[in-house]
Amino acid sequence: MKLQVENFEEYQKAYQYSVENPEGFWGEIAENFVWKKKWNKVLDWNFKEPKIEWYQGATLNITENCLDRHLADKADQPAIVWESNDPNEANRTYTYRELHQEVCTFANVLKQNGAKKGDRICLYMPMVPELAIAVLACARIGAIHSVVFGGFSAQSIADRIQDAQCSMVVTADGSHRGNKEIFLKHIMDEAIISCPCVKTVIVLERSKSAVSMIKGRDLFWHSEMERMRSLGLTDCPAEEMDAEDPLFILYTSGSTGKPKGVVHTCGGYMVFTAYTFQNIFQYQSGEMYFCTADIGWITGHSYIVYGPLIQGATSLIFEGIPTFPDAGRFWDIVDKHDVNILYTAPTAIRSLMQFGLDYVKDKDLSSLRVLGSVGEPINEEAWNWYNEHIGKGKCPIVDTWWQTETGGILISPLANITPTKPCYATLPLPGVQPILVDEKGEEITGNGVSGNLCIKFPWPGILRTTYGDHERCRTNYFATYEDLYFTGDGCMRDEDGYYRITGRVDDVMNISGHRIGTAEVENAINMFTDVIESAVVGYPHDIKGQGIYAYVIMASTPKDPVLARKDIAATVSQIIGAIARPDKIQFVTGLPKTRSGKIMRRILRKIAEGDINNLGDTSTLLDPSVVDKIKEERL
Ligand code: WT7
Repeated sequence: MKLQVENFEEYQKAYQYSVENPEGFWGEIAENFVWKKKWNKVLDWNFKEPKIEWYQGATLNITENCLDRHLADKADQPAIVWESNDPNEANRTYTYRELHQEVCTFANVLKQNGAKKGDRICLYMPMVPELAIAVLACARIGAIHSVVFGGFSAQSIADRIQDAQCSMVVTADGSHRGNKEIFLKHIMDEAIISCPCVKTVIVLERSKSAVSMIKGRDLFWHSEMERMRSLGLTDCPAEEMDAEDPLFILYTSGSTGKPKGVVHTCGGYMVFTAYTFQNIFQYQSGEMYFCTADIGWITGHSYIVYGPLIQGATSLIFEGIPTFPDAGRFWDIVDKHDVNILYTAPTAIRSLMQFGLDYVKDKDLSSLRVLGSVGEPINEEAWNWYNEHIGKGKCPIVDTWWQTETGGILISPLANITPTKPCYATLPLPGVQPILVDEKGEEITGNGVSGNLCIKFPWPGILRTTYGDHERCRTNYFATYEDLYFTGDGCMRDEDGYYRITGRVDDVMNISGHRIGTAEVENAINMFTDVIESAVVGYPHDIKGQGIYAYVIMASTPKDPVLARKDIAATVSQIIGAIARPDKIQFVTGLPKTRSGKIMRRILRKIAEGDINNLGDTSTLLDPSVVDKIKEERL
């Protein structure tokens, strides 16, 4: 079966076939890729344990699909085009041939420094081509990459390195983001003090700021690459991987505890990211594709690196931020590089909207053909602005719903195929079987209904486990409702059968499209001297989608509350990273608790939203008077 559906009828046919005969469907789709050995069985699964195995018995290397197989007909086509944070710095382009060579050479750097199949390697880097090269080099030798977003703190990095027992780290001196520099190596140095498992640190020179380099541990990227070239080690055979060998770990927040390491495997992830990329964006050979996410998040893994490269696309990597040097940067990039497909987040659109049309009006956006949205529900105003002022009413908007755990997009329009509707992710991809359930797990059938969104059948990109703790994977995703994968999202299905994702129904927040657990932020706040207890909730925020509202009990009333708030925010930054800084901190003397001691977050959420006259039943509270006090003093 061909990979790409070309019209709505073909989509419907593919969908029907994928539900009636999932193994037939995904087996035929998988024929479009390069395998070293074919599978004996397409799928073996149960959601009880869970155990999910796609393409049993098959072997492959995903980088042969990203790189080697394009050398025959696309060797001189750009694979990666890079735009610096600084608009005056020259672009860099890697053709498929060049990228292949760089990946092979860096794979040899990893190998020569002792890395081997199954080892975990932490990548903490700026948005430069070398990050994609490092990702692919790990995959080339079968090492498991664990990319940590450049905005995370030393403590967060240390937690992730320790959890995965990474033996190697790849980082850079610094990362330019707008006017700021993040001193990555310095932060990494602090992190690895508590990580004896790390034996080697490879440091890319990017910002040219001073770094400490420890003999026997720290090596410069460029000298190691030079050494490989002088040894003639610019080719590297692709390690033969089992379809179910882990490809990478990516940490993500849940409603409880520390972030967990979501594990994706080689075969299914490859098939699913390529299939979804091709069908959703309807990518045409030679087009310029620009996804504005960071490779530190799943969107960057699946739709900057793997999906586009498997499909032989040209993927634009942008180092900077949307508002530097001004709020027209994205449109400058579209204009300069003739971008055909732009994939960005609602929070970026909202933040640019507020600067008005001055930054858009003189830019030539006529190259745009498809627009994408990801990461959070897109509000109607942002959808309309994107459609009118960026797409000029002629580009379909694909509102793509998915999660770190799903590996790739599950519900989305297919560009120019599925009729779109503002705020709707519309219909499931072939192979994806969504169902809505009520609190008891009973299926809610028919249209014009709402419920909790679950998926009842595996797709090739589903997570296989959470690293080092399979039980956590089971309880988090497969135990809420029997035999279903629970997404944590609320959802409505309208009269046309279209899906609209309404947001998380658990204690996970979505701040500017970044996923943060309330418990994580509470733990960080509680580390602040003098804090006795805290409770954190999300509240609607015009630009960020959600903001963080913290209720904090202090041992003694702060003398300077303004400074105390700043100190608490700085503590959270230090422990987790700047993305988790609370927007509002209200000092309280008590929290609304039930008689059994459980914090009633429902009430705190309502107060944070400003919906104070409609708090619902408060009769089960241990001390209902605390609520009045919190209401009076709300920020
Ligand atoms: C959560 C997953 C998937 C890549 C980026 C985020 C929310 C994601 C949409 C969308 C409404 C969305 C959900 C989901 N979300 N895309 N198109 N419409 N909500 O990945 O960090 O794993 O977060 O983001 O709440 O559960 P993530």
